[in-house]
Amino acid sequence: MTAKLSSKPFLRVLSGEALDPPPIWMMRQAGRYLPEYREVRANTSSFLDFCYTPDAAVEVTLQPLRRYGFDASILFADILVIPDALGQKVEFKEGEGPVLEPIRDAAGLDRLNLDGVLDHLAPIMETVRRLSQEIPATTGLIGFAGSPWTVAVYMVEGRGRTDGERARDWAYRAPDEFARLMDILVDATSRYLIAQAKAGAEVLQLFDSWAGVLSAAHFRSLVIEPTRRIVENVKAAMPDTPIIGFPRQGGVMIPEYVEKTGVDGVSLDHSVPLEWAVATLPKKCVLQGNLDNRLLVVGGEAMDHAIDQILTATRGRPFVFNLGHGIVPQTPPENVARAMKRIRGEQAD
Ligand code: CP3
Repeated sequence: MTAKLSSKPFLRVLSGEALDPPPIWMMRQAGRYLPEYREVRANTSSFLDFCYTPDAAVEVTLQPLRRYGFDASILFADILVIPDALGQKVEFKEGEGPVLEPIRDAAGLDRLNLDGVLDHLAPIMETVRRLSQEIPATTGLIGFAGSPWTVAVYMVEGRGRTDGERARDWAYRAPDEFARLMDILVDATSRYLIAQAKAGAEVLQLFDSWAGVLSAAHFRSLVIEPTRRIVENVKAAMPDTPIIGFPRQGGVMIPEYVEKTGVDGVSLDHSVPLEWAVATLPKKCVLQGNLDNRLLVVGGEAMDHAIDQILTATRGRPFVFNLGHGIVPQTPPENVARAMKRIRGEQAD
């Protein structure tokens, strides 16, 4: 069956159809804002072990589907499983987020090992296989990875919440060395995404959450080019699996990103005017986004109004409703329910 004849609204849109209302999923739809997630999480040891435990990962992936009936489900894992699989020390600390033993020189690169990546990540492929059996027949299944630049920021800085200063300095000071890191990540990420697609992921998303901190020249060499290579590798193995890119805060570079990477869709952060995106980006590129995640915290009429504007701006265009960035832990779950009703044109409670 081709995607066009699919009973899944999410896949129909990714094959170029415009649907009204649009299909909906939300970045970080599984997570701490849900009490049922916190309960499962409380019974697991480390966050990475949680990601590598198919029973737990399948359960928390399904939780937001049961509650809200999203049109797509995203595999529960994290972008930092790649450095972990390459042999870098990765930990998630309570209240602090990810902490890695930073890599800042050629000797650090020498210690990374591509050989064991897929074996290390085998439990995640098991989660994908089980999800493809267990999700509702009308729900799409998304696999994902971090893009090389964003993953490199964590690998080099050793933590999040930076502007990638050390990574940018390294890329300027020793471009050949930094290119080696990009090559390793392109290779590991391509293999990982192909394995997810073979295990049953129907769409793949590449998260480049730190794309917005780069100069235009580095955006080209560290965001666009590595993404283009991954898209090429994945398409060579799995030509029918659509790929969505998320070059967060890419601004005026987004059209070039879409044109040169070959992604099938682009996820837009909340700073992008959708009227501009609709007018500027090629028709064959599916748009996704871009409600400000703070509006899910605030709720009420401010949220309703922004939802209506998004729907108006994108009507008639293949579009997937999403946020501009992930759901935050303070989000009241009832605001997500209200947003779903508003988007689907159903009566609010
Ligand atoms: O529904 C889903 O989207 C769940 C799957 C998912 C997670 N992380 C689970 C997670 C996905 C798609 C991600 C992507 C991810 N991870 C990104 C790209 C998207 C973005 O938000 O920019 C990034 C940059 C990461 C790295 C990461 N993981 C950080 C910075 C943190 C700490 C911040 C935080 O929210 O705690 C994580 C931890 C993490 N990843 C959690 C979850 C549910 C929370 C950890 C916990 O439950 O203890």
